[in-house]
Amino acid sequence: MSEEYVLRTPKSKSLYERAKKVLPAGVSYGIRHFEPYPFYTSKAKGSKLYDVDGNEYIDFWLGHTALILGHSHPTIMEAVEKQLRNGTHYGTPHELEIKLAEQVAEMVPSCEMMRFTNSGTEANMYATRLARTFTGKEKIAKFEGGWHGGYDALDVGVKYPFDIPESAGLTKGSLQDTVLLPFNNLEGVKAKLKNQQVASIIIEPVLGSGGGVPVENEFLKGLRELCDEKDILLIFDEVITGFRLAPGGAQEYYGVTPDLTVLGKILGGGFPIGAFCGSRKIMERLDSLAYKRPYYSFHGGTFAANPITMTAGLATLKALEDGRLIDRLNMLGEKTRKSLSSVFESHDIGARVTGVGSIFNVHFTREHVKDAVAAFKADKGKILKYDLRLIANGVFFLPGHNGALCTAHSETDMEKLFSETENYAMQPT
Ligand SMILES: Cc1ncc(COP(=O)(O)O)c(C=O)c1O
Repeated sequence: MSEEYVLRTPKSKSLYERAKKVLPAGVSYGIRHFEPYPFYTSKAKGSKLYDVDGNEYIDFWLGHTALILGHSHPTIMEAVEKQLRNGTHYGTPHELEIKLAEQVAEMVPSCEMMRFTNSGTEANMYATRLARTFTGKEKIAKFEGGWHGGYDALDVGVKYPFDIPESAGLTKGSLQDTVLLPFNNLEGVKAKLKNQQVASIIIEPVLGSGGGVPVENEFLKGLRELCDEKDILLIFDEVITGFRLAPGGAQEYYGVTPDLTVLGKILGGGFPIGAFCGSRKIMERLDSLAYKRPYYSFHGGTFAANPITMTAGLATLKALEDGRLIDRLNMLGEKTRKSLSSVFESHDIGARVTGVGSIFNVHFTREHVKDAVAAFKADKGKILKYDLRLIANGVFFLPGHNGALCTAHSETDMEKLFSETENYAMQPT
């Protein structure tokens, strides 16, 4: 199966050899590497990626789930091309950032004010600092399997077993203030926080790299109550779920409003972005006119709110704001999870398909997957084989990661996903 992939990708193989000399592991982000080597992309359009060998892939990875309208959507391209002629980067305030902030405030329930960053990692870092500023507490809490980017204080307990540090170079000082909580387990959370004073609890409403595991509604409501009781800021990391589960993200979908929200991916319309937002009362701590050192919370960045990203983001949110495209994608997501489950069931392959809305993930286990522990305990060898078999046949998931849907996926694309899964299930080795 790996042979089939190798036969189809000789040019990628030679680019990989070249890349390894200048890019560690031949890539610019460790997760983009997979065995035997990743294919190198030459172009992308709609629901498809094309590699340097001319192979076509139906893309269910969608640029780390960012491209809800697919690659190079004509409306976005047109808006961006026009903006390119007016400048790519100002480094001064401009109207586009106001427009996008107004648009987000209209769509996202928790958002009164916001600030833009260039990545989800940065946005989580600044949101965490803001929570510490506002509450005057130093410790923070996050969930097992939760991924919020590589910021030291949040790069904790991401992969199972959770007690092994996620990276070298994290100091004890940066880790000791982070409390790790069990996902979808309110009693467990209460027990962990019993003797702790934390500034914030940050949660991905659907665990992303933790396996596409949705939060349980009662759990989320319980978490909100707990935060209110203990003066803890509840932060939703909606970098994946924002503008995907509903126009107002997971907070609209689940009907629970956090104090702060972190956004990214879809918000940038295919360009780099992150953002964090919340009530005026909290966000005002970023106002350097109202608060002086040491009382204000710093945020900034050279490319923050660059006009190209603002333009692409605005065009994207305008396409999503009435919820119709999202509803359609959510229905397609439901059908996808059911169809994949029934293929595996009919071949008696122990597999669980997790996800919600237009997010899905396959786990080779017979256990109910309700947290990242169950997701990590599933058979990783099998998932890599399944993913590589699909890749060799023109269906792309980043091995071991969530699949996502975009408005460009056609019925034929979906049929191919199901038929290739059927082919795998008939001969799963
Ligand atoms: C939920 C979540 N938060 C934060 C991040 C980090 O965002 P970025 O990669 O833009 O820094 C990611 C990225 O995958 C994510 O999925």
